[in-house]
Amino acid sequence: MTANIVFSFVEIYLHCQFFVFKAYSRGLSQIMLFLYSLLKMRGMPKEIQIEKVKKSRVDEVLAGPLAFGKHFSDHMFVADFSNGEWSSGKIVPYGHLPMSPGISAIHYGQAIFEGLKAYKNEDGEVMVFRPIDNLNRMNESAKRMLMPTIPVDFFMDALKKLIHLDRDWVPKKQGCSLYIRPVMFATDEAIGVRPSDTYKLVIFTSPSGMYFSDRVKLLVETQYTRASEGGVGFVKAAGNYGVSMFPTKLAQELGYHQIIWTDSATHEYIEEAGTMNIVLVLGNTLITPPKGGTILAGVTRDSVLSIAKHWGMGVEERPVRISEMIESIKNNTLSEAFGTGTAAVIASVGVIGYDGVDYILPDSSSTSFSVRLSAYLSDIRMGKEEDIFGWMFKI
Ligand code: COI
Repeated sequence: MTANIVFSFVEIYLHCQFFVFKAYSRGLSQIMLFLYSLLKMRGMPKEIQIEKVKKSRVDEVLAGPLAFGKHFSDHMFVADFSNGEWSSGKIVPYGHLPMSPGISAIHYGQAIFEGLKAYKNEDGEVMVFRPIDNLNRMNESAKRMLMPTIPVDFFMDALKKLIHLDRDWVPKKQGCSLYIRPVMFATDEAIGVRPSDTYKLVIFTSPSGMYFSDRVKLLVETQYTRASEGGVGFVKAAGNYGVSMFPTKLAQELGYHQIIWTDSATHEYIEEAGTMNIVLVLGNTLITPPKGGTILAGVTRDSVLSIAKHWGMGVEERPVRISEMIESIKNNTLSEAFGTGTAAVIASVGVIGYDGVDYILPDSSSTSFSVRLSAYLSDIRMGKEEDIFGWMFKI
């Protein structure tokens, strides 16, 4: 940045000199401008280097079943941060990264990630859903974890080149997409607890099917906690997912898919559903816990609330007591509950377990909000419905 400002001043100076003294020093100025251009080119970020795979695996992988996050596309983007700036990065065949057991990310958890998806629309164009919103959230995560932010142009250039190169990996099958996983982690080889000076950004992709194939069965968790005020629950820090595994496993042993997290102070308010935000539908109103300290600012959550408002529904972002949710199931005012997330998109809730009782939610029908919503979102992605919100980014 500083170098560019200096170069700009030099450029202005040289151009002035060129006009004022051109009668005397035309030749000299031209030589200086030429030397300056060479110098400037050296300082500029270079093009992303691309090394392609010798033979693609795409046909064999896409021919088989696409479970979520099990297969990885041919290429990945890798860039390093050191001396206060990002390298230009390179696209290389997907594979293992050499790393020392001393890198601080695996000890002290300076690691963040994102999840976004590319779709192939009806015209065969590859479209990514809300990439800038995901990048903005990644940068919020970076700030909270004292990691470097990622410039928009740099990220979008890498994303466009990577997805364009692996465009044949975007599945066309109904319910499938190319899941894109950017991840950044600290790479200093250092055992002392301090922020790393170096980081690695990797973007890799996975052709994926549905995250949940059935309606989900959730258990309200009142002992363990995912996040607390002042912590990192509102960002996508790797550790948020690590802490969820033990309590989720206990719930799964009881036959549930995921947990409904509750607040750490009282365990009286619902927060999130597993790896998703949670939304309740009561009459013509959507109710969801507010974004903030402990709740992730979900991009799908935001999309759902925007669509609901556009359809004239009420939207309440406010604390929701467990007792209010259970009461609304008992007195039949809760018509639907669903989780929202990039991976799951809209996951309808079939059962909520609380205090030893399983509460059964009404069956979905073609008129259910979540069913209409899923169809509308899918139509926007497929280009069948006008993208009035400007969410789709063409590669
Ligand atoms: C996503 O929905 O992208 C998530 O982050 C969930 C993921 C951990 C599978």
